[in-house]
Amino acid sequence: MSKASEAVGATLKKMREYAKPGMSTRELDEYGYSLLKAYGANPAPKKEYGFPGWTCISVNNEAAHGIPTDKTILKEGDLVNIDVSAELNGYFGDNGSSFILGRDIQCLAPLVEASRQILYLAINKIKGGVRVSEIGALIEMEARKRGFTTIKNLVGHGIGLKLHDEPSYELANYPDRFNRKRLRKNTVVALETFISTKARYVYPMHDGWTMKTKDGSFVAQHEHTLIVTDGYPIILTGNNGI
Ligand code: CO
Ligand code: CO
Repeated sequence: MSKASEAVGATLKKMREYAKPGMSTRELDEYGYSLLKAYGANPAPKKEYGFPGWTCISVNNEAAHGIPTDKTILKEGDLVNIDVSAELNGYFGDNGSSFILGRDIQCLAPLVEASRQILYLAINKIKGGVRVSEIGALIEMEARKRGFTTIKNLVGHGIGLKLHDEPSYELANYPDRFNRKRLRKNTVVALETFISTKARYVYPMHDGWTMKTKDGSFVAQHEHTLIVTDGYPIILTGNNGI
């Protein structure tokens, strides 16, 4: 799992550096594919779900699962989210991050920074025995403190022999009172934040993949794959530099 995670972590880092205004999201995606291929890794969205792209690239009001296309041309100030997941030797790794391309024209830096900070605050709380709902409570509380909301229908997950694997934890970004599960030591999870300027839900678009909010509010995400321990988790995608 550390090899698969290293491949997706390095790919995410390099794709972020490669993204430039004037580039299509398709071009950025193809670059990501060439990097994953060099590792011998197979892009998970296509392999597992038949997604029409190698990575998910969501721009501005696209909240998640954006399809890379020739038509979407990146511009200065765009809010961009890249999510890279792949399989290597039968095991999966998953990570993602939002960032602002160049100058922060839309004044979204506080949202992006909140998402990044809250991911690390949640990681700090993750260890064997902790209730899954406590992680959700922390994420929601920290988002509120900063004047933001969390998306209820996008969640972190167990990962291993599948992209979304047992333990089938749904790591929600709010305290799900019906979820009594506790994190177990030595399990691997993909923890991801979904922080929004206003919305609580996202909805699929007609392409069947892209998720957007109804009111046009923005969403930022940061994600790491990690091993739950008795103490601070082992961050398998730590090389992504987020
Ligand atoms: Co992901
Ligand atoms: Co994920």
